[in-house]
Amino acid sequence: MIKESYEEIIELERQRQEHNVELIASENFPSQRVLNACGSILTNKYAEGYSGKRYYGGCKYIDMIETKAIEDVCKLFNCNFANVQPHCGSSANQAVYRALINTGDTVMGMDLGAGGHLTHGHKMSFSGQDYNIIPYGIDENGIIDYEEFEKLMYEHNPKMVIVGASSYSRTIDYKRFRDIIEKYAESHDGERPYYMVDMAHVAGLIAGGAHPSPFPYADVVTSTTHKTLRGPRGGLILTNSEEIIKKINRAVFPGIQGGPLEHIIAAKGICFEEDATEEFKVYAHQVVKNAKAFAESFLKEGWKIISGGTDNHMFVLDVYDSIGITGKEAEEELDRIHITLNKNQIPNDQLPPLKSSGVRIGTPAMTTKGWKEADFEKLARIIMDYLKICKDGKQEENREEYVEKVVRLIESVKAEQ
Ligand SMILES: Cc1ncc(COP(=O)(O)O)c(C=O)c1O
Repeated sequence: MIKESYEEIIELERQRQEHNVELIASENFPSQRVLNACGSILTNKYAEGYSGKRYYGGCKYIDMIETKAIEDVCKLFNCNFANVQPHCGSSANQAVYRALINTGDTVMGMDLGAGGHLTHGHKMSFSGQDYNIIPYGIDENGIIDYEEFEKLMYEHNPKMVIVGASSYSRTIDYKRFRDIIEKYAESHDGERPYYMVDMAHVAGLIAGGAHPSPFPYADVVTSTTHKTLRGPRGGLILTNSEEIIKKINRAVFPGIQGGPLEHIIAAKGICFEEDATEEFKVYAHQVVKNAKAFAESFLKEGWKIISGGTDNHMFVLDVYDSIGITGKEAEEELDRIHITLNKNQIPNDQLPPLKSSGVRIGTPAMTTKGWKEADFEKLARIIMDYLKICKDGKQEENREEYVEKVVRLIESVKAEQ
């Protein structure tokens, strides 16, 4: 039975976030400005509709906020139109399906096992239930199989293709996908599927110039705002097409959502402003440098990483192949020494999702806390040594020592700030 008040529990979670090494690839620490907007009085306001066309009175300032957030995100990603109302990444994706295609239509999305997201066609998601999904995957080297994608497109004639992933550590060639789609159109009387990019994981890297942009190649781009973008928990949709944004706007409201979360939209706007700074560019590049150094530390010791390394903010470490423990065991044991990450299936995983052979490791959050390559190299040493101890069943007697090592590492970076 939980006895503490909500405030006390929030404080406990705040302390956990402060005293743990946060390696979940989709998490980050937004600025105090972003947090303040999330907790602001804007949450009091109903504003169904869009700027200038609301179903409620008193929206003068709300309109200013939403219009500014749209302008800022369009400037950041160099595109023409945006909808900043989706409550999360999954809602943004759902709105795109609803806006552009019909129930039952064929859609190609990256397989969850290869690194895709649930909303790209998994059978437990609305996407896999309401649409005819043709999954595509990665080759034996762990790289997107562009040739297989092309072949499947000609075989299945999709109405929409989705490019983007939740656990894929290599640069995504958005132009190559567009070229494949254009070539297909040439042999299909100019008809082609919509090209949707879900950049949720790499959006901050794109904003900071550390990953290529899906513009001008994609028809429509979705994202979350809480991962590498370092904003509040939320979603967004971007496009260069006026026709598409009209459909998207109707699909978001009244299609799948009611009143927008204007406190979150203000926080998104602040994050877009912050992401346009030189400081954020430096951050985005540091995230990638850190991930590369971190991955290299494991590779040097013969540990296995899917695709053999990383070009972005994360990688999937095959702990089962490397030392014979499951992703679940690694997640739980590392949590006990204040290191937070998540188990993750590897391609063609022989273990079920709740066990998994791998763990997903990301650098965005600790890079926000000022960590550099050498810090991640030290952390890799701690992780490898501790997991080997766990494999030998000697974790009980060694745990305290490893907690201290992690605490010392966190404190040493803090002291340098
Ligand atoms: C690629 C991708 N798209 C969409 C989502 C969904 O975002 P949310 O959890 O905000 O619904 C995620 C979340 O992990 C993701 O990785």
